[in-house]
Amino acid sequence: MRKYIKNNVSWIGYMDWELETFHGDEYSITNGSSQNSYLIEEEKTVLIDTVWTPHRNDFVDNLKKEIDLKKIDFIVANHAECDHSGSLTALMKEIPDTPIYCTPACAKSIEGQFGKHNWNFKFVKTGDSIEIGNGKKLIFIEMKMLHWPDSMATYMTGDNILFSNDAFGQHFAVEELFADKANQCLLWKEAVKYFVNIIHPFAMLVGKKIEEIKSFNLPIDIIAPSHGAIWRDNPMQIVEKYAKWANAYQENQVTIAYDTMWEGTTKIAHKIAEEIHRQSPDTVVKVFNISKQDKNEIMTEVFKSKAIAVGSPTEVNDILSSVSGWLSFLKCLKFKNKKAAAFGCYGWSGESVKIIQERLKTAGFNVIEQNIKSLWKPTEEDFNKIPELVKELLA
Ligand code: FEO
Repeated sequence: MRKYIKNNVSWIGYMDWELETFHGDEYSITNGSSQNSYLIEEEKTVLIDTVWTPHRNDFVDNLKKEIDLKKIDFIVANHAECDHSGSLTALMKEIPDTPIYCTPACAKSIEGQFGKHNWNFKFVKTGDSIEIGNGKKLIFIEMKMLHWPDSMATYMTGDNILFSNDAFGQHFAVEELFADKANQCLLWKEAVKYFVNIIHPFAMLVGKKIEEIKSFNLPIDIIAPSHGAIWRDNPMQIVEKYAKWANAYQENQVTIAYDTMWEGTTKIAHKIAEEIHRQSPDTVVKVFNISKQDKNEIMTEVFKSKAIAVGSPTEVNDILSSVSGWLSFLKCLKFKNKKAAAFGCYGWSGESVKIIQERLKTAGFNVIEQNIKSLWKPTEEDFNKIPELVKELLA
């Protein structure tokens, strides 16, 4: 069912209440999500993006209930990833000659995923525009690597709506559609989790892109992303957050992430947490067992932290596979300006601390030399080293 968002612009997406994971199992979904498609009915009828492949037939059926598909003058594909282009195959069977406005990279990606169908792609670049009647037009803004090479945003004049695609979104189902109608605690929790786990690897591009968009001096009344709630009440609030989050963000927080075999590494983790609180009562301390807790939530806490401590026992000359996989993910997210320390128990060879330190350096952390490496189980002597480690971590 369509829902109007302003004048002749409506949402016609898929509210994905049942979604549990996204990007395979790389992203946990805890409050639903949505794939937002938008329908503009001015003198021209325009469809902006579609929904994920499994919902393609429902999407086309819903669209048919609202309009005669033949009335669609053109489609805008802001992004080729299948959560937005995945219904094109079903839709284009009905209206095969309809132009699709997108970047060349988007067309290449769509054909790579769905095959070559000789669809009528019209390539656009930043600053290109198209009249849609009633004195309004669409202006295209390339969003290269935010977060795919083909990503693009589309701005509608007159109604002043920025269809930002993945940028400024959240994996969050909001039936009422608008951010100001959503539970604010959940909204911001999901917005920051989304930024950290999807956008942050490209954070270095965010500031420049925001400046570029601002330089166009386009009034923005609504930011309509392709996932989650739509920003209409002070829409620039999410843009300002992105500018802040993208700039080596940190709070007065330290996160400890570890896994354990026989609880020795757990004991070190807990002692480090206690010592941080003792030395700096105002510092927020978070402790996570990597194999038991949600990796996207842990990464969100790492993002907020000024320092982290990572622990694993040594297993067969290496670290636990849970910690190894977690460190790979940590490296992908490209955090900056954060300190890190390593700790762990061992029985005989004891490589884990050194391996964690190397992996943390590769992930861009400033690794301190102080560490806790404990034979069999942590002793008082090991615990006595913790104050120095914490002092260096907090310095
Ligand atoms: Fe929501 Fe990059 O897809």
